[in-house]
Amino acid sequence: MLRKNIQTVIAGIGLILLGSMTSAQGAPYDHEVQDKKITFAWKVDGDRLAVKLSAKTDGWVGIGFNPSKMMKDANFVLGYVKDGKAEITDEFGDSDNNHSPDSKLGGTEDVTLVGGTEEGGMTTIEFTMPLQSADKNDTAITVDGDTTVLLAYGGGRDSFKSKHQYRTTIKVNLASGASGKAN
Ligand code: HEM
Repeated sequence: MLRKNIQTVIAGIGLILLGSMTSAQGAPYDHEVQDKKITFAWKVDGDRLAVKLSAKTDGWVGIGFNPSKMMKDANFVLGYVKDGKAEITDEFGDSDNNHSPDSKLGGTEDVTLVGGTEEGGMTTIEFTMPLQSADKNDTAITVDGDTTVLLAYGGGRDSFKSKHQYRTTIKVNLASGASGKAN
C-alpha cells in the first residue's frame, strides 16, 4: 500500500516536471518578421494577438498598428525592462508624430504583459492584446489582408518619452505571416 502511494506520488511529480518543461520550451509564436534591427514574432490566439518584440536596445521596444498617416491613429504598445522588471504601456497616436497613453485619452489599457528581459544589450518584451479592444480610439486589427505595422525602438534610457533610434513600417498578413516593406 505504502509502496503504491509512493509510486503514485513519484508519477505525479514526474508529470508536473514534464508539464513545466513543455511550457518553458514550447515556442508559442507562429510567425516572425525579422527586420535588420528589430524582430516581431506573433500568434493569433482567438480574439487576441500574442506578441514578442526584440531589439538591440537598452531602452524601449514598440509596435504600432494601422496608422492613418505616419504615427497618427496607430494603436501602440511600448515596453522596456528596468532593473529586471518589465514595464508596458498601451498608447494611441494622437498626431502624426506623437502618441499618448490610452488612459490619458479617455481610453482603456487593454494590454497584458507576459514578460520581458534585457540581456546582452537586447530587450525583449512579450504581451497579449485584443484584436478589437474596448478602447474607443483603437480600430480593429484584422488578421486577413494587409495590416500596417510600425516597429521601433528607443535607446539610452528607459523612458517612453525618448524618441526612436530606429523605426520602420511594414505590411503584414497576420494570419499567413506574409510580410513586406510598406511603401
Ligand atoms: C516617445 C516616443 C516617440 C516619439 C517622440 C516619436 C516621434 C516621432 C517623430 C518626431 C517623427 C517624425 C520625424 C521622423 O520621421 O523621425 C516620427 C516618425 C515615425 N515614428 Fe515615431 N515617435 C515615438 C514613438 C514611436 C513608436 C513607438 C513607433 C512604432 C512602434 C514609431 C514609429 C514611427 C514611424 C514608423 C515614423 C515614420 C512615419 C512616416 O514617415 O510615415 N514612433 N516619430
